[in-house]
Amino acid sequence: MNIDQAEGLRKRLSHSFHQAKTVAVVSGKGGVGKSNFVVNFSLQLIKRNKKILILDLDIGMGNIDILIGNRSTYSIVDLLKNDTSLNEIIEKETNGLHYIAGGSSLNQLFKLNDLQRNRFYKIFETLVHQYDYIFFDMGAGASEESLFFTLSADECIVITTPEPTSITDAYGMVKHIVSRNNHIPIYAVLNRWNKKGDGLASLKKFQKVIQQFLSVEVNSLGVIPDDSFVVKGVTAQQPYSEIYPKAKASKAIKQLADVYLREKGIGDSINTSFLGRLKNWMEG
Ligand SMILES: Nc1ncnc2c1ncn2[C@@H]1O[C@H](COP(=O)(O)OP(=O)(O)OP(=O)(O)O)[C@@H](O)[C@H]1O
Ligand SMILES: [Mg+2]
Repeated sequence: MNIDQAEGLRKRLSHSFHQAKTVAVVSGKGGVGKSNFVVNFSLQLIKRNKKILILDLDIGMGNIDILIGNRSTYSIVDLLKNDTSLNEIIEKETNGLHYIAGGSSLNQLFKLNDLQRNRFYKIFETLVHQYDYIFFDMGAGASEESLFFTLSADECIVITTPEPTSITDAYGMVKHIVSRNNHIPIYAVLNRWNKKGDGLASLKKFQKVIQQFLSVEVNSLGVIPDDSFVVKGVTAQQPYSEIYPKAKASKAIKQLADVYLREKGIGDSINTSFLGRLKNWMEG
């Protein structure tokens, strides 16, 4: 049996237990590049045969669909209506990207009656069996509602730019998270590095401060340069790593995906209690 066959067998055997890893992508300050990261990072993981779902959880300002250039008909709130199927709500792009749009009434998710709540949990149970990773594209800062999802996630990726305000706000966000859940693995990404300073050194400093004051380890995923091709991609409503694969930011995001998967190793056993944690937080 070669490695591929062994991997295939392992996958089939573990299929019934298989659960997606839920990953919240957060920042302190807004506009630091979370949504662009989520879309392009997901595309890289898809190229590496992972099944990915993006959930746009940016309350009021969801914009994954705008970045992709496809206005979606439904949003996550429609999941609660009995007459809309999960299949209709998940947008499926030809590049393999699956996502559920946010919509402006996302806060309804947190005012559910028992029936709706059970429906919501059931849907999530289905979703975690269908994907390898479910990314939550969070809004900036920490609204009480969105925090439920962040705190329930299996992992967190915190995005910051080199700007001091962005770094202090990212620190504040990490502090907020670990004060409520200090077991959640946290990864950090430095976006829009402008070559003025050493990007990796800034990330190391960030890790060190968190280690020192919050006593938690943050793993570094790496650095994405400030790149005009990212802006061009946003304007064209196409993921930059797809239309400009040779751009510096595209090369960086590929590397980040490699680092991320290498950290997990081939036999990463995905066993999450995301739903249990979400229930705890939502029902207090
Ligand atoms: N690596 C980069 N190089 C150059 N510009 C970038 C880069 N990353 C992001 N940007 C710019 O920042 C803008 C905001 O990015 P994005 O929408 O991904 O941020 P966000 O963190 O999701 O924002 P919000 O907090 O509003 O959800 C982009 O439209 C783009 O102009
Ligand atoms: Mg965003």
